[in-house]
Amino acid sequence: MSFDVRTQRAAPPPGEPIRAMVVLGTRPEAIKLAPVVRAMAESAAFEPIVVNSGQHREMLEQMLDMLGLDVRIDLAVMRERQRLSELTSRLVSGLDRAIRTHRPELVIVQGDTTTALCGALAASYEKVPTAHVEAGLRTRNLDNPFPEEINRQIIGRIARWHFAPTARAAAHLEAEGVPARQVTVTGNTVIDNLLWILAQGKGSPAFRTGRRKLLVTLHRRESQGSHMRGIARTLRRLADRGDSEVVLPLHKSPAVQESLLPELGGHEHITITEPLGYADFVATLAQCDLVLTDSGGVQEEAPTLGKPVLVLRATTERPEAVEAGVARLVGTDAEDLFTIASELLDDPGEYQRMAGAVNPFGDGRAAGRVLSELARDCVRPTGVPAAIIESPRPPGEEMVSIDGFEHGVH
Ligand code: UD1
Ligand code: UDP
Repeated sequence: MSFDVRTQRAAPPPGEPIRAMVVLGTRPEAIKLAPVVRAMAESAAFEPIVVNSGQHREMLEQMLDMLGLDVRIDLAVMRERQRLSELTSRLVSGLDRAIRTHRPELVIVQGDTTTALCGALAASYEKVPTAHVEAGLRTRNLDNPFPEEINRQIIGRIARWHFAPTARAAAHLEAEGVPARQVTVTGNTVIDNLLWILAQGKGSPAFRTGRRKLLVTLHRRESQGSHMRGIARTLRRLADRGDSEVVLPLHKSPAVQESLLPELGGHEHITITEPLGYADFVATLAQCDLVLTDSGGVQEEAPTLGKPVLVLRATTERPEAVEAGVARLVGTDAEDLFTIASELLDDPGEYQRMAGAVNPFGDGRAAGRVLSELARDCVRPTGVPAAIIESPRPPGEEMVSIDGFEHGVH
């Protein structure tokens, strides 16, 4: 066991890399943890042990290779339409087994999925400290997003290291009593990955025509059913305009498909695709004119590419993009959605006001900051510094200018 109870710190044996179990199970976790895993694989200071919980199957497996994720353990927990309680119990026992078998010095989880919650729980039951990437996002509404707000608040109580993407997220944690020394503002690793994939120049857009290009993604549990059907009918009205093409890479969730397909099928200006590979999705995002989404990750990626985003939700835990002017929280009213989307399509001035590229979520160097902080805080009994990785630029000026938030860096 390599957890020093006295110091409450991970303590790898002298001279050996820090064994970090990286737990992921859904598409966004793979995308947002891949930069951390790649940076660890390049660093002599860390040994990443990637666990795929298998919460998602096809949507995750289609991107593991491209993201450079070499999975050591696959728990394969996905079952069609399984209840959250079944998923949770399979995950906690599977992750507990993985932790007891591999005895990592620390466990890394990301975001607010059931996999992340169970990774943090299983680690804490085994007294292994947890690092939480993308910590501190809050709506403070336990029903929205559900169950993600519950999950991230619980992880916030358990984690040893809190990697907040923005100063606002860090402030949320401190307001909840997390000591400032346990919180690091890093930027969001999704930007690291976005810049990485853009630099490769791979991927083909899914749009087929020269019409105005609307990219849509929808999946949130709290929207499934009547709200999602209402959005779908509005998308059909937008496609009926004749000057626009809607591309919707359809989530694999049966509940999402049942809500959307009856309303959207068979329209000549609506293209429904399988979930796109990451490079293809980013190429599609880069080509589109307007994004309509309830996705967290897409809300973060679109501003970097200067794409106006209509957030198809009642709340957002990412108000930074709204404040920057590139995103609008549309709410749940279908008529409002039609009015706002039509205005953007018809009024070039309004469109340009939203389309300026801004990046409130990071500078693409978040993974390095995560590793630096972990290496600094992992005690080596010999006193040998663990960090053999590039140190981040001095905190302060850089993150404040990205975030525009006065509190600065911790
Ligand atoms: C999950 C996360 C959500 C995240 C989203 C990303 C939870 C509670 N929710 O939501 O935070 O934003 O992933 O997409 O952790 N399915 C497949 N193949 C797949 C993936 C899903 O068939 O590759 C089907 C299965 O029937 C599964 C269902 O979709 O039971 C729902 O998947 P689940 O992971 O439970 O929730 P999501 O809605 O995808
Ligand atoms: N994404 C993708 N293919 C798709 C749709 C989305 O690769 O067909 C990527 C997208 O770039 C973003 C992430 O998936 O990084 C968002 O995942 P999702 O919307 O499923 O989850 P959320 O971010 O809402 O948790």
